[in-house]
Amino acid sequence: MAITAYSVRDDEVAYFQQWQQAHPAEQVQLIKADLTVATATLAAGSHSVILLQTQPVDATIIETLAQLHVANLIVRAVGVENIDGLAITQFGLQLANVPSYSPRSVAEFTILQLLQLLRQSARFNAAFKKGDFRWTPFLGEELAGKTVGVIGTGRIGAAVIAILKGFDVHILAYSHHHNLAAQGVQYVDQLPELYRRCDVLTLHIPGTAENTRLIDTAAFQAMKPGMILLNMARGSLVDTQALLTALDQHIIAGCALDTYDNEAPYFGQDYSQRKIDDLYLRALMQRDDVLLAPHMAFYTKPAVENMVTQALDKSLALCQDAQTLDVH
Ligand code: COI
Repeated sequence: MAITAYSVRDDEVAYFQQWQQAHPAEQVQLIKADLTVATATLAAGSHSVILLQTQPVDATIIETLAQLHVANLIVRAVGVENIDGLAITQFGLQLANVPSYSPRSVAEFTILQLLQLLRQSARFNAAFKKGDFRWTPFLGEELAGKTVGVIGTGRIGAAVIAILKGFDVHILAYSHHHNLAAQGVQYVDQLPELYRRCDVLTLHIPGTAENTRLIDTAAFQAMKPGMILLNMARGSLVDTQALLTALDQHIIAGCALDTYDNEAPYFGQDYSQRKIDDLYLRALMQRDDVLLAPHMAFYTKPAVENMVTQALDKSLALCQDAQTLDVH
């Protein structure tokens, strides 16, 4: 079987090579470029294409792959929202993802950012680097005793809750499935109740058409004053204008974002010598009550290894048994 992988970074190459050595009968071609109409032709002769990109994979790209007889498209990540699902069906490709490469990677990053916000570490680090070694005004908060609201108790939300259990916090959850109720997690039925009762709110749901801008002006207004918001899920969940207003009005005390609505052109790219035209992104970057990261909560060695090897395993399985695979 022949596989072409796109957007391959240097830190992934060893994992691809490791898999190749263990599967000498398969041919794996590694391409640094993203999958576009122009680069799609490089997949000629491949049964599967593996990709990882936040840029849209539209109908034209999918049609090109179909014309080249590529049968499977495997995303080596969880989210597949940038892939045109209708075109996948129309052109008869199979789509798969890697649904659980390391929920712990995102969960640990979530807690890291939360503790940094509570202890104002970005602020005191900036002062420290200038030689200001005073304690004030960086009086911290403690996580113990706080109420943490978790929206979404799937794999990542559950991993966040597992870590939080060691912090002596009260956990409240909101999720379609009350899958952790048997483990003692308390669910609320209405989001406004979560907003009203929580000191910290963390989002762990996929971005869908239904939940776009879930956290809007009305949601911020319902929040307990001084709340901290964490979004390691999808930028589309938060109305950025409403967030900036809520921060300005001190409705919330701070937020940590690993994702931003218009991140696709920026995150993962080097903009250190380029102008950032997006005014919201610039506004978020300039604030010291916002901890912004470029969608890298997932980025750990175990996660990257799992993304690569599980995507390759799926490519193989898809060719052997098309029925075993779909998107989770
Ligand atoms: C995912 O796995 O869905 C992510 O958000 C991380 C990825 C885009 C690198």
